Amino acid sequence: MTTLITGAAGFIGYHACLTLLKKGEDVVGIDSLNDYYSPLLKHARLENLKKFKQFSFHHLAMEDHSAIFKVIQDLPSDLSITHLAAQAGVRYSLKDPYAYTTSNVDGHLSLLEACRHHGRIRHLVYASTSSVYGANTKLPFAVEDRTDSPISLYAATKKCGELMSHAYAHLFDIPTTGLRYFTVYGPWGRPDMTAFTFTKAILAGEVITVFNHGDMRRNYTYIDDIIDGTLLCLNAPPQGSPKHALYNIGHYRSESLMDFIHILEEKLGKKALLQFADIQPGDVKETIADIRPAQDDFGYSPKVDLKDGLEQFSRWYLEHYSS
Ligand SMILES: NC(=O)c1ccc[n+]([C@@H]2O[C@H](COP(=O)([O-])OP(=O)(O)OC[C@H]3O[C@@H](n4cnc5c(N)ncnc54)[C@H](O)[C@@H]3O)[C@@H](O)[C@H]2O)c1
Repeated sequence: MTTLITGAAGFIGYHACLTLLKKGEDVVGIDSLNDYYSPLLKHARLENLKKFKQFSFHHLAMEDHSAIFKVIQDLPSDLSITHLAAQAGVRYSLKDPYAYTTSNVDGHLSLLEACRHHGRIRHLVYASTSSVYGANTKLPFAVEDRTDSPISLYAATKKCGELMSHAYAHLFDIPTTGLRYFTVYGPWGRPDMTAFTFTKAILAGEVITVFNHGDMRRNYTYIDDIIDGTLLCLNAPPQGSPKHALYNIGHYRSESLMDFIHILEEKLGKKALLQFADIQPGDVKETIADIRPAQDDFGYSPKVDLKDGLEQFSRWYLEHYSS
């Protein structure tokens, strides 16, 4: 079976590819290797993937319609796709808004169009985000909750991806599922996310800005659990009409930001220097996922707690950046 993974050199895409390759499956990766964060990290991930002979790679941007169309057209029938290529990050959408419409709207549509013309897609699973819940205060966040009041452009473009996917599933009978991921962390993680920035700052003796004066809670979800949920879902295409579904993929527990920092301090053996600040525009105070539908429909069950997850992350960080 062949699986196409977009965003293959990214944090989640890399782990998705690696897991499938270790099972002996064929994986085709696409990534633009853009410089939102250091391309060196993307190239290092890619080098690991290229060690597997069942891995092939296309250095392409999703918004390059004709190139994406050609790659997908040449792939076999019964194709599974995990679409992870996107411009991620809430804060950066204040700085470069067009990067979000290009990758997350135009790029997403380009994939849907290619799927429409391929005509034999087994299942398209794409990444959405907990950010679509906006300033929702009803906890836990459930997929039935209203998500039409985004508070960042990032969330608005990911919501747009959900809506376009629903329309294409309806119009062209493409089995499609959107997964709303909740704050993912782990080895080979994204350098703009807290596990990474805090670790870097603690080790360098630099000050960490703690937003909302530390009064934040997140549904931190370890990368192995995210990959587990994604691949379980990939094997469970939605039934019914239209063949489109949405799920939350998060952890059972939400953890406080201050606990997150204290665990990191313990794992790194060094105290953090903290400076407290107000909440940032577009950020929310708390996220908790209602993951029962994913448990019921495809057996998703997150296993890694924050202490173990941060242990794995800090070990990887120290090893990777010392060499
Ligand atoms: N990491 C998280 O906590 C988190 C949470 C919610 C949702 N998500 C979503 O999960 C997906 C993967 O996120 P990630 O954390 O691995 O991010 P990432 O930035 O590490 O990975 C995304 C990859 O996509 C590539 N890419 C970006 N735009 C592209 C384009 N137009 N064409 C081709 N490639 C492109 C990038 O080069 C990058 O390698 C994204 O869709 C993101 O919105 C992530």
